[in-house]
Amino acid sequence: MFKFSITVAASALLAAPLTSLAGDADAARALVERGRYLVKIAGCNDCHTPGYAMSDGKVAESEWLTGDRLGWKGPWGTTYPPNLRLFFARTTESQWLKTARNADFRPPMPSPSLRSMSDEDLRALYHYVRTLAPAGEAAPGYVPPEQPAAGPVVLFPMPPG
Ligand code: HEC
Repeated sequence: MFKFSITVAASALLAAPLTSLAGDADAARALVERGRYLVKIAGCNDCHTPGYAMSDGKVAESEWLTGDRLGWKGPWGTTYPPNLRLFFARTTESQWLKTARNADFRPPMPSPSLRSMSDEDLRALYHYVRTLAPAGEAAPGYVPPEQPAAGPVVLFPMPPG
């Protein structure tokens, strides 16, 4: 009887941390899955994944968010959607929360969408992109309005007046 209760107590002790570890793994998986869902519905691939918008999303997930050489040219100059796989690899979670909360990127990056996301959604997005791991090259850098852009651009009309 004594021996039995020792065994029960010991297995109860062992079972507790194991159960919570399994719970943590489930929570981590759910967070990553939510991040994947958010990337799909928030349109991040449309600009940050080459060919995504033009192919109705038929781009392998291994290529997602690797940045694009297609420029967006308007009164602000020419911007290129950066490689987010490299961006997230060099950014800590707390840096990301701060960056997104104060997002003030040039057009056509939808900065207001980032600023409107909850911390939980931002964390989900972060952990999802980190699971994709770094890939691809850096996108071309910003070109000011008075300088010509190299390569193809989407041209925005000048505002009237
Ligand atoms: C309409 C095109 C477009 C969409 C949609 C878009 N982006 Fe961007 N994004 C850009 C461009 C262009 C830049 C570069 C802006 C600049 O040079 O200031 C950028 C910049 C960024 C940066 C800064 C990266 C760095 O290296 O500094 C982050 C982070 C980012 N985008 C995340 C996202 C996320 C997350 C989504 C989805 C919620 C998203 N973007 C959707 C076009 C887009």
